[in-house]
Amino acid sequence: MSSVLSLSDVCWRYEDGASWTLAGIDLSLTEGEVVGLVGLSGAGKTTLLLAMAGLIPANYAGQFSGRCSVQGELGIVFQDPETQFIGLTVEEEIAFSLENRGQDDRAIERRIEDVLALVGLSGFASRSPFELSGGEKQRVAIASALAHAPKLLLLDEPTSELDPKGAREVFSLIRRLKEEERMTILVASHATEELAQFCDRMLLIADGAIVMDMPADAFFSQVASLDAHGIHVPDMVRLYHALCTEGVLDEKTTPCPRTVEDMLTLWQSLVRKGEVAIP
Ligand SMILES: Nc1ncnc2c1ncn2[C@@H]1O[C@H](COP(=O)(O)OP(=O)(O)O)[C@@H](O)[C@H]1O
Ligand SMILES: [Mg+2]
Repeated sequence: MSSVLSLSDVCWRYEDGASWTLAGIDLSLTEGEVVGLVGLSGAGKTTLLLAMAGLIPANYAGQFSGRCSVQGELGIVFQDPETQFIGLTVEEEIAFSLENRGQDDRAIERRIEDVLALVGLSGFASRSPFELSGGEKQRVAIASALAHAPKLLLLDEPTSELDPKGAREVFSLIRRLKEEERMTILVASHATEELAQFCDRMLLIADGAIVMDMPADAFFSQVASLDAHGIHVPDMVRLYHALCTEGVLDEKTTPCPRTVEDMLTLWQSLVRKGEVAIP
């Protein structure tokens, strides 16, 4: 599998920053990978995404060193989609990201229809992006980022401003992009309950350094480290580890279930085998 993005010893200090906000980041993303990025507020998640997108150092004042290379196009969606909107309609909003690329009107129209279908917003073309629900707004922002068919999609806390319904819409879209489009996605988020369900790989950033970088299963088995870094350990993971500690499950033979459905299946098989009795 080929690398779509690679950072090598990337360091960054904002002009007025007292210390390095990115302190020697080495990271490579492989095609088709869906990666979760977690870390406390102020740890450097947004700054890292800006560096990946080349907006740091291009659009910010400060001190940069290291190397960042991206193979192909990249799309980025920021935390609050509304601040990015400039179009009066959803169609205009998405067209804006395409018109700069010299495509003809018919091709633009077709592409808009395609990306709206992809994010589940067919029929929304003539709506005002400002009048949509939070989840719909975020999906319009994602549609704009997807319009020019990027190889890599960066999402910065895409659900932090959303209600549970909106968050569900956005997470189910991310899963669809993973499963149906095989997209390479990096999502910065505090929502570890959801990340644990679909991420292949997890990164933990603390004080501008990547302190954990491993497959999601291994990552969520490090409960003590996650606790120490103030990262929320998903309930499913806590339940699994409690059952391992109690001797009901064996960590060596039974991997941690990712979803409630997986836990239910595991539980039913234990009941069938008589390893767990229902009182
Ligand atoms: N434009 C800026 N100028 C100076 N310092 C900044 C700027 N943006 C962020 N920082 C600082 O960089 C650090 C990392 O911020 P950020 O990347 O936004 O973290 P996160 O996204 O993980 O919350 C914080 O200490 C923050 O105050
Ligand atoms: Mg941030």
